[in-house]
Amino acid sequence: MKTQVKYDIFSKFYDLVEEYMEEKSFSKWRKIVWERVPPGSKVLEIGVGTGKNIPYYPNDVEIEGIDFSQGMLERAISRSTKYPDKKIKLMRMDVSNMSFPESSFDFVIATFVFCTVPDPVLGFKETIRVLKPHGKAIFLEHMRSNKWIYNIPLYMINPVIKTLTGTSVIRKTKENILNSGFKILEEKNLFSDIVKLLICEKI
Ligand SMILES: C[S@@+](CC[C@H](N)C(=O)[O-])C[C@H]1O[C@@H](n2cnc3c(N)ncnc32)[C@H](O)[C@@H]1O
Repeated sequence: MKTQVKYDIFSKFYDLVEEYMEEKSFSKWRKIVWERVPPGSKVLEIGVGTGKNIPYYPNDVEIEGIDFSQGMLERAISRSTKYPDKKIKLMRMDVSNMSFPESSFDFVIATFVFCTVPDPVLGFKETIRVLKPHGKAIFLEHMRSNKWIYNIPLYMINPVIKTLTGTSVIRKTKENILNSGFKILEEKNLFSDIVKLLICEKI
């Protein structure tokens, strides 16, 4: 089954499944991400999901959000109606093949997305294409650890998560970012070296 279809099904349970982690950690991390977006920026959010970042969107930026799952996107659209003061445009689109012209955005944001994108390097390359020269991308992503001991549980749970959602918890996301051509300006470990905040620049 395609990842897109898996997420259409998962969209019905996504907020419930993530509720505990959202309260415990994710909400704090989302705040860190969006605080870094300066006023007046033109921003693309990739993989908006059910719209969990929407409450953190600054009012003074213009945001376009995409997701390839109709189920997830519908929930994000419904959530966005609660924030009439924010400038948000949400649409169905695949990050691997975006219809935006090149150099369209000052910032691109993705939170917990490139663990799921079927071809992550292609997705990162498309992200570079739509960023303006020296535009920034902020990625909040989980990935494989450099410590083998931490990878044991990740390898154990990966087949189940991958089968159910298409998401991989053992991706080498930092390497994928570098292989796509991004320059990493800043790297912050948020949960050991498994969850990272990566600030990148189009060079
Ligand atoms: C784990 S969810 C994260 C959702 C949201 N960013 C969050 O922080 O809660 C991953 C999302 O990425 C979307 N996604 C995965 N691959 C994609 C692609 N190629 N193009 C667009 N969206 C994609 C999925 O549909 C899903 O909504």
